[in-house]
Amino acid sequence: VKPNPQQEPTLYYDKLSPDHLARFSDFCCGDEAWHRDLDDFLRDDAMHEGSTRLSITYVFWDEGSNPVAFVALSTGQIQNQANKEGPQVLDGTHYHSISALLIARLAVDRRHQGKGYGSTILAWIRDMALSLPIGCRFLALHVDRENAAATEFYRKQGFFKPPYVKAHHNRQLMLYDLVGSPQTSTPETSDPV
Ligand SMILES: CC(C)(COP(=O)(O)OP(=O)(O)OC[C@H]1O[C@@H](n2cnc3c(N)ncnc32)[C@H](O)[C@@H]1OP(=O)(O)O)[C@@H](O)C(=O)NCCC(=O)NCCS
Repeated sequence: VKPNPQQEPTLYYDKLSPDHLARFSDFCCGDEAWHRDLDDFLRDDAMHEGSTRLSITYVFWDEGSNPVAFVALSTGQIQNQANKEGPQVLDGTHYHSISALLIARLAVDRRHQGKGYGSTILAWIRDMALSLPIGCRFLALHVDRENAAATEFYRKQGFFKPPYVKAHHNRQLMLYDLVGSPQTSTPETSDPV
């Protein structure tokens, strides 16, 4: 299956299964603590989160069947503003919370970083969110505050920090507006997965 046939590089994907787990056993996205958390999640938690429906993990590989990346997705919601007087994500509205698709984890194997795979996978997630038959306004994720590389990657992809500061351990919430963002495209099919 190709997430974005018109886009290079081509990636194939599937929902994580025990077979995939064996193929991804030496997956490694880097040396920092947050990288190890991501690698450990895939090995130790992803199957369980899938079977308990907390998140669903998809794994991606290239044309040579080399493990490339994984992403864990779940539903979520974001706060429109931190307090009544504060700035809003959706300015001038009465909403307390807004629907979102949560990118719970995203990691590209270090041997394949910088080749465009992360962008391809984000485009695939955007198309999936836009074709959901339920309301979903934002893509949301938490990035480690020290992870400057990922923060820059998401910023380049059109993600922004909400206009309020939220203490969430050491993680920064980042959002992508599925309405009106430059890279938003309307999918032709309602069934991308
Ligand atoms: C962050 C990550 C997902 C990006 O995926 P990727 O496949 O390496 O990124 P791409 O090759 O698609 O890069 C897309 C754009 O982001 C930029 N980018 C990617 N990594 C970057 C970095 N380390 N610093 C600055 N910009 C970066 C690229 O320059 C590119 O910009 P361009 O289109 O203007 O050339 C991947 O590097 C990764 O998994 N890192 C380790 C795990 C991690 O930190 N995950 C995020 C947890 S929230």
